[in-house]
Amino acid sequence: MAARLMARPDVEEVELELFVRALKLRHGYDFGEYARASFRRRVNALLQGIGCETIGELTARVLRDDALLPKVIAGLSVPVSEMFRDPAVFRKLRDEVLPLLASYPHINIWQAGCAFGQEVYSLAILLEEAGLYDRTQIYATDFSDAAIARAQEGIFPAREARLYSENYLAAGGAHSLADYYHARYDLITIDAALKRNVTFANHNLVCDGVFCEAHLILCRNVLIYFTDSLQNHVLELFRDSLVRSGFLCLGTRENIAFARAAQNFRAIDPRLRIFQLAQR
Ligand SMILES: C[S@@+](CC[C@H](N)C(=O)[O-])C[C@H]1O[C@@H](n2cnc3c(N)ncnc32)[C@H](O)[C@@H]1O
Repeated sequence: MAARLMARPDVEEVELELFVRALKLRHGYDFGEYARASFRRRVNALLQGIGCETIGELTARVLRDDALLPKVIAGLSVPVSEMFRDPAVFRKLRDEVLPLLASYPHINIWQAGCAFGQEVYSLAILLEEAGLYDRTQIYATDFSDAAIARAQEGIFPAREARLYSENYLAAGGAHSLADYYHARYDLITIDAALKRNVTFANHNLVCDGVFCEAHLILCRNVLIYFTDSLQNHVLELFRDSLVRSGFLCLGTRENIAFARAAQNFRAIDPRLRIFQLAQR
């Protein structure tokens, strides 16, 4: 009897599993392959954020109250970002990848997991400065509608401007980042001209298919939240979305080496996690 009791799973673990199933069955959002420890932390933060005592209570609300869903997805996503985050990566894109992309008459870039848009606008600036922006389309996607709405606005707290400017200069920026935004009170607003070739859309890397035929895919600090098997799936989705010799840029703590798709890529810079499709 005692042994049977000891084998019983913890109540919270069962509640977490039921919450994941409810989100999938009722709303089609599948978190079954998210790394459990960090997912659990986000669920616990969400409980506080929307005033639920237990995961069971949250599950009941998610099942009955459709209006709560955007808040739940926003709470489960981690939209932390910076403009020119990891400047060495953007410098490498500027110095080595964009000159190669310049040979195409039209360039498609897919930025998956765009959060509030900081990387999208960083890319737009790189392209503008390389004289390539007018023949580029950037597709910026995320699975959180709330994040996409924020990204479309392109408004950030002014207190971030200093870090963003330092990153921009470290990434080889030759102007002042302030040339690309308007400051008003405690906010900065990205210049509307930088939005002209960006299309924002909801795309869920777990269940949605190939998004566009991309010359460059930037998906940074998203795979880190996924199990190995989901990472495998997403890396194959990226492989199938790239043109021949297209580029893939991952976060500096993410890797492709373990994945089935590794055989299809060669590293341009293994430390900065920039890869090129070598063969399908
Ligand atoms: C930490 S942010 C990364 C932002 C940016 N790429 C960067 O590195 O600064 C992770 C983003 O991935 C998004 N995300 C998480 N799971 C996703 C999924 N299944 N499909 C699409 N986006 C997802 C989140 O909503 C969040 O905006």
